[in-house]
Amino acid sequence: MSAYSKLSQRLDTGSDKAWSVHDQAIEMQRQGEDVVLLSIGDPDFRTPEPIVDNAISHLRVGRTHYSPALGELNFRRAVADYETRVSPHGCSPDEVAIFPGVTAAIYAVLSCLLDAGDEIIVVDPAYVGYMPILKAIDVKVTWVDALPENDFLPTLASLLAAITENTRVIFINTPSNPSGAIMSRDFLATLAEECQKRGIWLVCDEVYSMFTYDKPHVSLRTAAADTEGLVVIDGLSKSHAMSGWRMGWAVAPAELTKHLGNFAAMSQFGCPQFIQDASAFALNNDEYYVREMREKYRERRDTVCARLDQMSGVSYHKPESGMFVMIDVSHFENDDTVFAQKLLDAQGLSLLPGSAFGENSKGHVRFSLVQPIDVLEKGCDRLHAYLQQSGC
Ligand SMILES: Cc1ncc(COP(=O)(O)O)c(C=O)c1O
Repeated sequence: MSAYSKLSQRLDTGSDKAWSVHDQAIEMQRQGEDVVLLSIGDPDFRTPEPIVDNAISHLRVGRTHYSPALGELNFRRAVADYETRVSPHGCSPDEVAIFPGVTAAIYAVLSCLLDAGDEIIVVDPAYVGYMPILKAIDVKVTWVDALPENDFLPTLASLLAAITENTRVIFINTPSNPSGAIMSRDFLATLAEECQKRGIWLVCDEVYSMFTYDKPHVSLRTAAADTEGLVVIDGLSKSHAMSGWRMGWAVAPAELTKHLGNFAAMSQFGCPQFIQDASAFALNNDEYYVREMREKYRERRDTVCARLDQMSGVSYHKPESGMFVMIDVSHFENDDTVFAQKLLDAQGLSLLPGSAFGENSKGHVRFSLVQPIDVLEKGCDRLHAYLQQSGC
């Protein structure tokens, strides 16, 4: 039987080389082996108890029915209020569309802005989840370098130079996965202005917005003088340790939001009511929990970086945000996937090869901070032992 659409062929990305070490590590763990798994980005924290209680109480009172495609008004209002608090522009629920996670929001936004063959500019390195979406919607991607020597940030000049008369969208991510780099207010303001002048959409994934350590996150909407043509995508997966609840949103001009509503009506047909209720509660009452988790991530980052400082020949990028440390292993091994494989085989430590994120993170491995300090210390011990054993 070969009667499948071209879309289903594009969606079939097959088993990815990037995840090979991680998949082996999971299998080894399943077989009872002692593996330290630091290759993924799913927060280890439990969702704060009051958010769980809130969801349960809404479940009990029967908030279990169909919900508007764009999202429950109370949750859209909570997102709009949050946006209004952090940005000078104000935001109304008409500019908010709810999706089951940031991934679904990105897929919907790009699907509403781009046709097959249209041009989009994306920064390399990029979160591994972007490529399958770009492939599915069949767009022409122009990659712009974010070089390690520029702290994994693209230059404004290189982004503007990549624009052609066919460019319809520039897609950025700040704070960044994998590097934790943060785009500055000036950078975002100028980029927004340049895109607006040219009639190009500027879409920004800000899912790590609440976990910054050394300087604050500035949202694209906050930085820009005008919100025309801007879309900010965010969600609760990381900030509130709610990855499994699947809650994300897009803040976009009202006309685009209507299209997003049509898209949502044809795809998910609304998200669970009780989860949106608890998500609204989470956003309105989050300061304590988010701060507590942020401080724990900061402590983890500092602990891992202090350990890396003691390993001779190791260089790394101290992340300004997020949950990952990018370690440069190019002095030890040409190929980061080979390095990660040997590390798993020799020490039972699973890190993600940097090449998973693009050309510019090749030669690095990504060390995830989503485990308690004692596990991270064990990961550092194993990395150190591997480097010493292999005569590095
Ligand atoms: C930059 C970035 N965007 C989006 C996502 C996916 O978010 P969600 O789980 O809400 O779909 C991730 C998850 O790791 C991410 O790192």
